[in-house]
Amino acid sequence: MKKSHAFLPRLFDNKLLISIREYFVKEYKKFPEKTYWKDIHVSHPSVLKILPSNLDEILTNLLNNDKYEIETVELHIQNPNSESIPPHQDNFYHCTEFDKSLKILVPLQEFNNNNGALFYIDTDYDFPILPHKPSKTPNFSSYIEEKDISKLNFSTTCYSYKLGDASYHFINNIHYSIGNKSSFQTIFIVYRFLTKDAKKDKIALCNYKKCLDSHSRLI
Ligand SMILES: [Fe+2]
Repeated sequence: MKKSHAFLPRLFDNKLLISIREYFVKEYKKFPEKTYWKDIHVSHPSVLKILPSNLDEILTNLLNNDKYEIETVELHIQNPNSESIPPHQDNFYHCTEFDKSLKILVPLQEFNNNNGALFYIDTDYDFPILPHKPSKTPNFSSYIEEKDISKLNFSTTCYSYKLGDASYHFINNIHYSIGNKSSFQTIFIVYRFLTKDAKKDKIALCNYKKCLDSHSRLI
């Protein structure tokens, strides 16, 4: 059985990461309130050029399929004293099969439990989707309640990334962040990959849409 997440040390080129960080810091200074962007590969295709050549083999093995595509690329900025990210499973809103999609997280500086790195619950990749409630946190529509998290009997991992390190998590992994407790802004990119044969679960999608409507009313 595959793990739902793992560390990928020294995967990315440091010089490319430094230059892309400088680029995004400059680019997004115009939007000081905004901390999350989706589909940045559309407006900034340079983000695709930093992908290392050996990533294809890693993804093919993990997804057990060489026919996959990039679904989206997200940019997250966490300013000092940023809000925490509540526990959630990405597949609550992606609504597809647990083994057909995963995310590669690439920090653009050192990243650890003190400056906003994610805490991953150490489940296998097929862990079921737990009930989610609408969240009051902007950018994060839904979360798993503490009463449900506390029932779980798994360890939790938070990686300490040096520049160039990355990690992956399958979309059923449960993760959260306690926020950026340092005095420096942190940035990370998330690439979402999806196999071409992945199917949407219509019932799950309907559940998510109800939750998203409630979230929109709460924020
Ligand atoms: Fe997530």
